[in-house]
Amino acid sequence: MLGDIVSSMGVAALRRRLKGLIEEHNIDFVIANGENATGGIGLDKKTAKEILDCGVDCITLGDHTWSKKDLIQTLDEKPHKVIRPINFPKGAPGAGSAIFELSSGKTIGVANAIGRVFFNQALDCPFKAIDELYEGEFKNCDLKLLDFHAEATSEKIAMGYHVDGRFSLVVGTHTHVQTADDRVLPKGTGFLTDLGMCGPDDGVIGMDSDQALGRFIQGLPFSYKPAKGIPVISGIVCKFKGCLELIRIREMVKV
Ligand SMILES: [Fe+2]
Ligand SMILES: [Fe+2]
Repeated sequence: MLGDIVSSMGVAALRRRLKGLIEEHNIDFVIANGENATGGIGLDKKTAKEILDCGVDCITLGDHTWSKKDLIQTLDEKPHKVIRPINFPKGAPGAGSAIFELSSGKTIGVANAIGRVFFNQALDCPFKAIDELYEGEFKNCDLKLLDFHAEATSEKIAMGYHVDGRFSLVVGTHTHVQTADDRVLPKGTGFLTDLGMCGPDDGVIGMDSDQALGRFIQGLPFSYKPAKGIPVISGIVCKFKGCLELIRIREMVKV
């Protein structure tokens, strides 16, 4: 699972490195959060295709889901390869989960949810939405994975405990900074608070530092623009065969 892809630099890093990582770790399935992939905010149809062409099997999203309007068409395409948070209010385009079959014949359910702390959007309860999914669509899935896109560390950890023993893996996205707390929760669910990002490392969470400082110090309404420089790829490799093994990835990629 890869953290938020930020700008064309993040996509370029995946294009350069992802197939190598897949080979080195013998990876069956790749999930990446794409909510910042087009120009730093949102994801359009063209970039979604570019990400899938890099070797990503499923793209998850977050608070920037609706920033690029042409994605709505992609979100409604079946089978769903691009999913958005499941707890957007009922009637929102697209799906909040998807089920895939691996070459081994095992099924993998991928879910995306968004937290409610510090997000000023109309959102249903993510905890209840995931319960419904677990009891319903995901009932017979061999593996169940969740990208919980949230600001607050506490909300992400709470979600980990909420699904402990029910989901195979819960990871957080959105903050763009990888946390070092990968662990297996008491009932067996793999957990990491935040995957980090795939994008320019020399900036403020992927954005140009001058623009970010202007907003923080002077309160000026600069619009964010992606940073430049060497991108980083951040995420986690999970091995479910036998004992659950989690390997954090954070590497610079020359593009
Ligand atoms: Fe986000
Ligand atoms: Fe993000």
